[in-house]
Amino acid sequence: MKWVTVSELYQHVGEDVELRGWVYNYRSSGKIQFIILRDGTGLCQCVVFKNDVSEEVFEQAKRLTQESSVIVRGTVREDARAPGGYELGVKDLQVVQIADLDYPITLKEHGIEFLMDHRHLWIRTPRQVAILRIRNEITRAMHDFLQERGFVLTESPILMGTAAEGTTTLFETQYVSGEPAYLSQSGQLYVEATAMALGRVYTFGPTFRAEKSKTRRHLIEFWMCEPEWAFATHEDNLRLQEEMVTYIVQRVLSRRMRELETIGRNIEPLKKVEPPFPRITYDEALELLKEIHARTPDADWQPIPWGEDFGAPHETALALHFDKPVFVEKFPAKVKAFYMQPDPERPEVVLAADLLAPEGYGEIIGGSQRIHDPELLRQRLREHNLPEETYRWYLDLRRFGSVPHSGFGIGVERTVAWICGLDHVREAIPFPRLLNRLAP
Ligand code: 4AD
Ligand code: MG
Repeated sequence: MKWVTVSELYQHVGEDVELRGWVYNYRSSGKIQFIILRDGTGLCQCVVFKNDVSEEVFEQAKRLTQESSVIVRGTVREDARAPGGYELGVKDLQVVQIADLDYPITLKEHGIEFLMDHRHLWIRTPRQVAILRIRNEITRAMHDFLQERGFVLTESPILMGTAAEGTTTLFETQYVSGEPAYLSQSGQLYVEATAMALGRVYTFGPTFRAEKSKTRRHLIEFWMCEPEWAFATHEDNLRLQEEMVTYIVQRVLSRRMRELETIGRNIEPLKKVEPPFPRITYDEALELLKEIHARTPDADWQPIPWGEDFGAPHETALALHFDKPVFVEKFPAKVKAFYMQPDPERPEVVLAADLLAPEGYGEIIGGSQRIHDPELLRQRLREHNLPEETYRWYLDLRRFGSVPHSGFGIGVERTVAWICGLDHVREAIPFPRLLNRLAP
């Protein structure tokens, strides 16, 4: 008999098939037992009639507890009332394991800390399964989009001798040689090197930041996709970003509708995501924040003076003002990283942009055109108190065939949280690392 998944049942109506999975729910009423089976692709109601199975199978089925693992065989029937629209008329059933009776996650509500402590089991619930499938669609769309445009995957190292995004959030460890080594905060510096070798490249990997912030959007370990593009300007960079974000959203809308329904995502705001995205400058953003605050004062935040960076509440307020993702560009050089190219028309600001997701989600992308002039780069390293010696290889990229180039980093979990409409990034990754959580 053919082993199929719940998601494939529609192709087998009227046929006998085998399902392998776990008991999500079970109830019995004398002559008939109902097993809601989950197999990771969906839920299927399996109906065990006393008359359809052997005495032994009927008795076996009675022992089933929540999360027991089973193999069931039977006939696929269309049934509009059943979850998923199909049910299985069971003919045979084989118990793989009877789960202990104290499965901690019941069908009732649980507190978030309890669920986080049981994340290894919580991920079995339909909502979490749907989120992880959407995450997979999103990361795959990132790869597909870039590959289709000729970007080559060149992985950056995780252990680094240099800081990429400032020294305050660095994770220090000891290298085999005894020297200090740091966990990567970003693969950018290395894709700048591979871009000069291959032209269009990207890295996709885990990044680490010892963030002291306990917000809904900060993880200690998160995944980032970082394209880097030789000869591309700030303008090219923004266009690539809006095309990539649109591609990702459309991919999820076309392939993951069922999962979006499972998690109850209102898709209307997602349908509006298409180029061009609105753009405002940092200066315009400050004005807008003042206006928003004057109109609807909020105790959580205050407008900021020129030269200060936005906090999460500022990003939320700005993002709520637009119904599409919005670029905030041309930040003061002093609030941003050392490698960003100054605006030729106004050198106190840099050719950098953050992309803020709508519905209050805030920054999902940070990107910029990079400094290509060796002298300016040396000057910036000095201003940021970064030792030239450690960045010698990075300076080489400016000594040998230096070209203007641009790139960005899109945070996977923030993108997933936004597209899924989650309250917190902790549900956007299988095993989140948070300020106070390193387990499970
Ligand atoms: O803006 P960031 O810090 O930019 C960089 O790291 C650049 N080197 C990227 C580049 O140009 N290649 O981070 C980029 C994105 C953010 O917009 C956000 O989506 C995500 O990474 N991010 C985080 N996600 C979860 N938790 C955190 N603590 C994050 N910090 C950044
Ligand atoms: Mg940023």
